[in-house]
Amino acid sequence: MSRIAIIPGDGIGVEVTREAARVLEAARDAFGLDLSLETYDMGAERYLRDGVTITEDEFRTLSDDADAILLGALGDPRVPGQVHARDILLGLRFRLDLYVNYRPCVLLDPRFCPLREAEGRTIDLDIFRENTEGLYVNAGGVLREGTPHEVATQEMINTRHGVERIVRAAFEHAQRHGRGRVTLVDKANAMPIAGGLWRRTFTEVAEAFPGIETDTMYVDAMAMDLVRRPERYQVIVTSNLFGDILSDLAAEITGGLGLAPSANVHPCRHALFEPVHGSAPDIAGQGKANPIGAVRCVALLLEHLGHGAAAAAVDAAVRRTVADGVLTPDLGGAASTEQVGAHVADAVRGAAPAANAV
Ligand code: NAD
Ligand code: IPM
Ligand code: MN
Repeated sequence: MSRIAIIPGDGIGVEVTREAARVLEAARDAFGLDLSLETYDMGAERYLRDGVTITEDEFRTLSDDADAILLGALGDPRVPGQVHARDILLGLRFRLDLYVNYRPCVLLDPRFCPLREAEGRTIDLDIFRENTEGLYVNAGGVLREGTPHEVATQEMINTRHGVERIVRAAFEHAQRHGRGRVTLVDKANAMPIAGGLWRRTFTEVAEAFPGIETDTMYVDAMAMDLVRRPERYQVIVTSNLFGDILSDLAAEITGGLGLAPSANVHPCRHALFEPVHGSAPDIAGQGKANPIGAVRCVALLLEHLGHGAAAAAVDAAVRRTVADGVLTPDLGGAASTEQVGAHVADAVRGAAPAANAV
């Protein structure tokens, strides 16, 4: 049996996770999978009520017992500094050492592409974002806080070990999936210390993958090129902050944040799946959040657990739902979060192998 821990979190995280769980249950029933789902109450409400973000016991259960974690989003304007999100989301990424943040971006329908001449474009790229180092380690400090002479340092940490393992993960993925090129994105012109480590490591790791082309781009030029000719890119590997920024941009050119999934993984150990978007306080509670990013996380999760046929059925069900025009307002439709989730779940049930059909 595989145990799946579900952390809906805050805002639309709760709404989209409800639909993702609905689709996961449909896949479980339709494909006869042995999965148990357990929901965890972690987020702003609990923090504001009890002052608790994540307990040691909860962390240990997630670490030792869960085969995969499905998370909605964390973030609430009532919580100063988003301390709960840092403890729970960044806490899990760091403490479980989930060093690969895999963010695939695929254009499901040319109608969703906001770029010029969208018809006929093929956007299908995978971002490998380093997830445990960079500017996210929270190293630094403040001097003379609140005075006109305040000093704030926020240091960027890059280790050979950390860089090498994410670069290798990107190349291995490219090789497994027949992707012809891996692009390193950095800012080595302005930040040559970090850039030097990333470029040397990239070149050395690439030697083990002679069939795969390589190139490098500065992050500012990459932001431009993702708008100009995104079809050129297949696999992008980059540091934590650059990956965060580029993945929102890549999501937007394929239809928006509501569609984009991600997997935070330490291969062969732990995996946490979450949509790329946040808790979207501006639309929370209105039933109009797009659940497709969260639902696509279910496909990634099923694939990760070795249930390829069920994962493919979820993917196909998402495409069916898009083709049927059952879309939330961010994509120009009028369907609710729940209607989209129910439509995908029905399509998954329709794809069930005959012996397991219910
Ligand atoms: P956001 O991703 O929540 O929202 C950005 C914009 O995209 C908003 O206009 C929102 O309405 C829209 N949007 C996002 N997801 C959508 C969906 N599924 N369907 C339709 N529209 C959608 O980013 P933000 O506003 O910068 O952040 C809000 C909070 O979420 C902050 O506290 C932030 O720290 C947090 N956050 C959490 C995560 C996470 O948990 N993984 C990710 C990003 C942001
Ligand atoms: C994301 C989010 C997080 C990040 C925030 C909520 C800390 O933007 O998952 O992309 O920056 O990694
Ligand atoms: Mn982000």
